[in-house]
Amino acid sequence: MNIGIIGAGNIGKTLAKLLSGAGHQVAISNSRGPATLQSLVAELGDGVQAMSTTEAANFGDIIIEAIPFGSYQQLPVEAIGDKIFVTASNYYPDRDGKIELGSLSDSEFFTQNLTKARVVKAFNTIWYGHLATQGDLSKPVAERRVIFVAGDDADAKHQVSELIEQIGFGAVDTGTLHQSKQQQPDTLIYNKDMTVSDALAILQKDREVDG
Ligand SMILES: NC(=O)c1ccc[n+]([C@@H]2O[C@H](COP(=O)([O-])OP(=O)(O)OC[C@H]3O[C@@H](n4cnc5c(N)ncnc54)[C@H](OP(=O)(O)O)[C@@H]3O)[C@@H](O)[C@H]2O)c1
Repeated sequence: MNIGIIGAGNIGKTLAKLLSGAGHQVAISNSRGPATLQSLVAELGDGVQAMSTTEAANFGDIIIEAIPFGSYQQLPVEAIGDKIFVTASNYYPDRDGKIELGSLSDSEFFTQNLTKARVVKAFNTIWYGHLATQGDLSKPVAERRVIFVAGDDADAKHQVSELIEQIGFGAVDTGTLHQSKQQQPDTLIYNKDMTVSDALAILQKDREVDG
């Protein structure tokens, strides 16, 4: 599969390495253009090329973003079109400045201009250092470190969950993009080192408490 990544920092470059290692063709991009990414792609090796954000979005069957939350208006909306768009961004007011989300989840807010895209929130609950090292293909999925997914399109979530399994993790679905509030910063499951089976038990218990 071709994967276009927007953002070449901690999360973007870690995913580029893992996904190219799983056999995918990856294009990675930042705001400053592909010339600034030559040493990074040389380091990441075959299977990763540098492009502009628009080119990476055109290239990807699936597009993944990991850019600062406040940059949501700089996404290449036309090139993303109706593709699967994975958003890893989190909103931290102290870091990102005051942004009024209203009743929206942070991912609903971040992707508000992508009216046709099949949006999936994923990779936002795991620190990049753990993403780089904790995938383990030798374990059964239930015993692997969890990565949460949310979104309104079941097939898109399924495809992203398959990518998660291919890099040695296990996916757990928290619901719609609105319900992805459950996997935002300061929630029960955010940035917790837990297995798929632990995560399912915690979410089940939480739902019982909420009635
Ligand atoms: N760090 C983590 O462990 C972690 C884990 C889960 C989720 N997240 C979330 O993922 C997002 C990114 O975090 P990060 O740690 O990867 O950040 P980072 O290391 O600062 O990387 C951000 C990347 O985005 C690029 N960028 C900035 N503005 C852009 C734009 N308008 N278009 C395209 N590229 C742009 C930056 O490059 P240029 O400035 O050169 O363009 C840089 O390559 C944040 O919302 C964060 O909360 C982070």
